[in-house]
Amino acid sequence: MSGPLLDLFATEHPAFVHVPLGLVIALPFSIAISLKAKHTHAWKIASFFIAIVAFAGSIVAIISGLFWGRQISLISPGGYFPVVASGKQILQKMLQLHEIAALAGVVVGFFCLVLIWRSMKEDNDARVSTSPFHRRLADRAVWLAPLFFSFLWIGAWGFCGKLGGIMVFGNEETNKAAAAADQARKKDVEADLPIRALDYASLEPVQAAPIRSKAHGNRWARIWVTASGIDDYKVGKPLPSGAYAVLSTVEDARGKPGQEPGPLFMRETLADGRVSFAFYWPRVPEARRAETGGEDSAYWRSPSEKLKACAVCHTTAGLAAKP
Ligand code: HEC
Repeated sequence: MSGPLLDLFATEHPAFVHVPLGLVIALPFSIAISLKAKHTHAWKIASFFIAIVAFAGSIVAIISGLFWGRQISLISPGGYFPVVASGKQILQKMLQLHEIAALAGVVVGFFCLVLIWRSMKEDNDARVSTSPFHRRLADRAVWLAPLFFSFLWIGAWGFCGKLGGIMVFGNEETNKAAAAADQARKKDVEADLPIRALDYASLEPVQAAPIRSKAHGNRWARIWVTASGIDDYKVGKPLPSGAYAVLSTVEDARGKPGQEPGPLFMRETLADGRVSFAFYWPRVPEARRAETGGEDSAYWRSPSEKLKACAVCHTTAGLAAKP
């Protein structure tokens, strides 16, 4: 089921919920007034009316909430309840409680409604059968139960609404979880693809033309450094934190540069000052596989054991000991 109207119905869930919530907050007042005021019977009818509209409104709210949850994939397409697969899924956990509280409110509300109805009926019976004194006594006793249930009703939906507010506007916990998820996603992208190393041409080139690099397999190489580190690099200082350098290479198959792309070497100064290395060689020619331990494609990142050799030449400060 989909369509613009249904979408609107689903996304307006935060608006719908205020109708039943507001009515339920008014309910105990109207019940309490009916215990005392002159127009007792009128207030009882009003209470019943408030309760029944609140109950009907809650059904609309719940259905729109279900559609909304499915629309934003917190609930699976045919599902009714979110699945919490890991402790980090704070929104799903909150939605579970939110749904339970909403349904608890509906059950409590139903009892409240039945109690109001029943006491109205008993009220009428009492009117014909008992003395005025007994009538008033029965009146009050029989209205205490719905009053009690109306408070429970507010409690359930108040809790439900509080969670709903947090899910919509966020609080410290959800914001932290969102930031952590964002960080993890960024790290994941880098884990699968050596994106920054591949984008070396967007950095500042150190040489205008390739140089021979004995240290890196005697290939033709060019060095590229982030704008944040190029000045320090040129005067031989360690790269500032966050800066990195890439050494792009070409295989020198026939003594001329530019025959075949070779591996990318990357060296980065992390935010905490540690130096991290990366090595990316998407297609290792058969004759060169001894260098990668037989692998036909290599992507290694610190703290991989395979990058130990890099650290031997590049000191902890990150500078290569020039031969
Ligand atoms: C034998 C010593 C040696 C080894 C091993 C070595 N490097 Fe280097 N590296 C150098 C030297 C020397 C330079 C300076 C450019 C040149 O002469 O090739 C350099 C330059 C670089 C640069 C360019 C920025 C800079 O620091 O000048 C990067 C990036 C780099 N190396 C990464 C690596 C990575 C990653 C590894 C491991 C896979 C590695 N290197 C292994 C010696 C080494």
